[in-house]
Amino acid sequence: MSEQASLPLHPLDPPSPEEIRRAVQILREDGRLGENARFSCTLLVEPPKQSVRRFSPGDAFERELRLIGYDPEPSESFDARISLSQGKLASFETVARGQAPLGFMDFLKVIVTIKADPEWQAAMRRRGIEDFDLVQVDPWPIGGYEPEELEPGTRAMRCISFLREYPSDNGYARPIEGVIAYVDVGRERVIRVDDYGVVPFPPESGAYDPEHVGAMREDLRPIEITQPEGPSFTVDGHQIRWQKWQFRISLHPLHGLVLHEVGYQDGDRVRPILHRAALADMVVPYGDTSPMHSWKQVFDASETSFGQMANSLKLGCDCLGEIHYFDTTYLSWNGDPVTIPNAICLHEEDYGILWKHTDMHSGTVEVRRSRRLVVSTILTVGNYEYGFFWYLYLDGTIQMEVKLTGIVGVSAVAPGEHSDTAPLIAPQLASPNHQHLFCFRLDFGLDGDGNSVYEVDAEPAPKGPENPHGTAFRSVATPLRSEHEAQRTADPARNRHWKIVNPEVKNRLGQPVAYKLLPGPTPTMFAAADSPHGKRAGFARHNLWVTAHDPAELGAAGDFVNQHPGGAGLPEYVAGNRALENTDLVVWHCFGLTHVPRPEDWPVMPVEYCGFSLIPTGFFERNPALDVPPTKHCSD
Ligand code: CO
Repeated sequence: MSEQASLPLHPLDPPSPEEIRRAVQILREDGRLGENARFSCTLLVEPPKQSVRRFSPGDAFERELRLIGYDPEPSESFDARISLSQGKLASFETVARGQAPLGFMDFLKVIVTIKADPEWQAAMRRRGIEDFDLVQVDPWPIGGYEPEELEPGTRAMRCISFLREYPSDNGYARPIEGVIAYVDVGRERVIRVDDYGVVPFPPESGAYDPEHVGAMREDLRPIEITQPEGPSFTVDGHQIRWQKWQFRISLHPLHGLVLHEVGYQDGDRVRPILHRAALADMVVPYGDTSPMHSWKQVFDASETSFGQMANSLKLGCDCLGEIHYFDTTYLSWNGDPVTIPNAICLHEEDYGILWKHTDMHSGTVEVRRSRRLVVSTILTVGNYEYGFFWYLYLDGTIQMEVKLTGIVGVSAVAPGEHSDTAPLIAPQLASPNHQHLFCFRLDFGLDGDGNSVYEVDAEPAPKGPENPHGTAFRSVATPLRSEHEAQRTADPARNRHWKIVNPEVKNRLGQPVAYKLLPGPTPTMFAAADSPHGKRAGFARHNLWVTAHDPAELGAAGDFVNQHPGGAGLPEYVAGNRALENTDLVVWHCFGLTHVPRPEDWPVMPVEYCGFSLIPTGFFERNPALDVPPTKHCSD
């Protein structure tokens, strides 16, 4: 268990409970907020990278927090900057386009409002539902498809619901098909209830706990991970050192798990690789034609501050072995700091072999074990879980793996009905096609800030005297010299990857030092670019974007995504087509999964994976993991 330091010791330390309390007090004393105002989140204003680099322990540093929230009178989202160093409100702005992220109190008010509404109650009674306590209401963001009667600036949500048989039942087994309610969150009133007609409830239970599943397997014997001498990492506040790696971590309300100041010890110097690496937004665009799902395009990170929904992780369940946990503190709706214990898990994992060769002539065998350092967090957003796992390896590789699990979206369908945009996953239960598209912002600084990016494809060499059989192929690197040139799509058939280089730092072969961004087998968004899905999630049109560094450009879909009509974020950032060669740049990688649900995804989905790797490519002189010693009994 970790203790959250009461005062920050480093400029990138996350806001402490005391700092959050103080910031809220300063804002309240200013008197601008109404008494029903509620907070969405607090964000540390991260200091410029130059000043972070100059920092040494003990130095004084500036602290500034943003407090973001919603004030029902006069129905405005606010974005306040509080200078803790100066003890004053630095700025206070109301949000002109979009809304502050949704939070606990929004959800609660919406559910209470709906359940008291006579029209909604009548729709429930038409389905034989009398006990509204057993109705599970799921409020969804409304952005992109707002009803006509909604006045501009109204904070609103759209709700669908499910019927539980008992309070802890899996309600998703029984969708209350056809009923959609629109709620004005600020005025706490139902705007409209749509009813597309009664569909019978699917017949089966969706319970997945041991009590309801029945006989459990009896032949799984325990796996215990032990590290008798303890783990190989050290933790100092939010700084982590492991093997030759060093970096800092934080859990950001909108960006989840953040790696800061990632460097690698190479000889007697620490070589910088990334200034900051984190999710910059994500979208789940649904591809179903049904009125229950066609509007869904949820930005799980930015519409709801999902970092605040981190699970409290448990040894032996979420992570195995010698674990170090980090707590996280967030700003709750009422202005209090709330600490989630064990929100981040840090541990080492054995990862099979690192390298091996058996010399056929002499019979000598050299083999080394690979292991990786894992920093992870699991966030629950409504029906879904997202696990974000950063891995660092002994050979200089960095990997992001997203683990998707939880419960898929569902619809009840009449017996014998089916649709090609929502396959059946259980009797009379369908699940809409959808995608999960993540956009990571990678603020590189490879051996310094002056970096360039190349797209690298393998291609066959032309047939000719040098290549008579047409078997030769080569790797062709194309510079991405401007923001417009740097909007690219993955192409595994060409071995396509993107190489980030420092053109001024050469390895001993005269090549610029580089890391390659190796995408996984990833889609782009299927929704039309001019659809509300497409306009709001412009970032998801490409797998790669590169921008000139701007510390204010952190969100792939902009700053205030909830109810934003679209166009913000990456498409806006690149409008000026800034030059990218040998400059301080940011790489944005969008990737994900196309999810055509299958019966095996029901009633709870086995983990699906997606992600990317950052792999040294001429950054080191040779295999940097030759010095990993053989495991004890292998050298006997
Ligand atoms: Co899915």
